[in-house]
Amino acid sequence: MNTVAVVGTQWGDEGKGKIVDMLAADADVVVRFQGGNNAAHTLVVNNQKFVLRLVPAGALHPNKACVVGNGTVVNPIALLVEIDNLKKSGFLKDPALFRLSYDAHMVMPYHIAIDRAREARAGKRAIGTTGFGIGPTYEDKMARTGLRFEDLLDQVSFVEKLRRNVAEKNLYLKAVLKAKTVKADEIVDAMAKARRRLLPYLCDSGAYLSEAIAAGKKVLFEGAHGTMLDIDHGTYPYVTSSNCIASASFDGVGIGPTNQLAVLGISKGYTTRVGAGPFPSEFTGQLADALREEGGEFGSATGRPRRIGWFDAVLTRYAARVNGLWGIALTKLDVLTGLDPIKICVGYTVKGKRYDQMPPSHRMLLTAKPIYQEMPGWHESPAKARTLADIPDAMRNYVNRIAELVGVQIAMVGVGADREATIVTSNPFAA
Ligand code: IMP
Ligand code: MG
Repeated sequence: MNTVAVVGTQWGDEGKGKIVDMLAADADVVVRFQGGNNAAHTLVVNNQKFVLRLVPAGALHPNKACVVGNGTVVNPIALLVEIDNLKKSGFLKDPALFRLSYDAHMVMPYHIAIDRAREARAGKRAIGTTGFGIGPTYEDKMARTGLRFEDLLDQVSFVEKLRRNVAEKNLYLKAVLKAKTVKADEIVDAMAKARRRLLPYLCDSGAYLSEAIAAGKKVLFEGAHGTMLDIDHGTYPYVTSSNCIASASFDGVGIGPTNQLAVLGISKGYTTRVGAGPFPSEFTGQLADALREEGGEFGSATGRPRRIGWFDAVLTRYAARVNGLWGIALTKLDVLTGLDPIKICVGYTVKGKRYDQMPPSHRMLLTAKPIYQEMPGWHESPAKARTLADIPDAMRNYVNRIAELVGVQIAMVGVGADREATIVTSNPFAA
């Protein structure tokens, strides 16, 4: 398949960064189609750690084109800082290889101020957002008052729109949220400087990608967050403000749904979530703390400790359906070494009724009790394994059981942090 999408099947942080980085080696173009710098993909290249938030992972490979589509929301200042950092490390040298959609919306300082003030006021009802202004920017997109990169083409009308928005948002910040207002002049100045640097990157992402696809180029769609954070299909309202599922790769760049796509879902061998909201297979205590340390389960965008849970087969089966998964990459299995037994959530009980599939309303997850199957653990490190034959027997049984429960092939198994520590049994570009 020439077009591949990588999506998270849980609540984000499944280890997409590493898989995307690996697949980027086979791709010609790597594309972000939704979300903003609330995402953070951590990659280790030549012993150096990179956290990419807006720039697609292709940037860490020579001569790959990187496209940021119309479905994203981009903080222009944060983008330029990220580009500068990559350039300092010797990446993204050729400006022609980075493209940003005219139609992507800009995250402005008032969006960030509103996001943070609302969360601070919400107290117990807070969503636990990343505080990067993502929700308020998507709100303005739907309200048709947002600023898009195309607005930079006409500086006079851009400043006019910007000042109008600032005036309105400041009224809201002050009167409703009782928060500090933002300064229009400062934003206008910062944007006047950023504008000159941003304009050369702008493109029509749909035209660019249909041309690339027609020319037989290999395109990798890099999903951010995860299925359970999807605005429609996740645990609303404890979600992010965009569609994060595979079909968003089409409207998030401007190509039709009739393009063939192999969808690779990324699942951790256990489950984590940051922020508030239901999480049926969650557990706390010493075991959870140990797993958090072992797996480095702290938010890469915000540093928050992640909540920990067992692998949830109901949730992943649901993700397989809404994404139309071709295969699954099961990541970070090495982290489970030494845990014995290991549990898999195979169903839920909600108000005395058993559910083997996702309950029809996500609100039911608030009271869902997990039904577990226990599997024997393994004690030998799998980190050096490069084929499924090399991994401990108990680990292979665990992988096979997950494939059976989810009903999707396991195409990759992550056994360690290194770039090489991923066993690939099937590559979606070869599918
Ligand atoms: P927002 O996207 O900043 O509005 O945050 C909404 C919810 O999505 C919060 O629970 C965040 O913790 C969560 N979230 C957003 N992006 C990510 C991500 O990349 N990984 C994990 N959680 C995320
Ligand atoms: Mg992340």
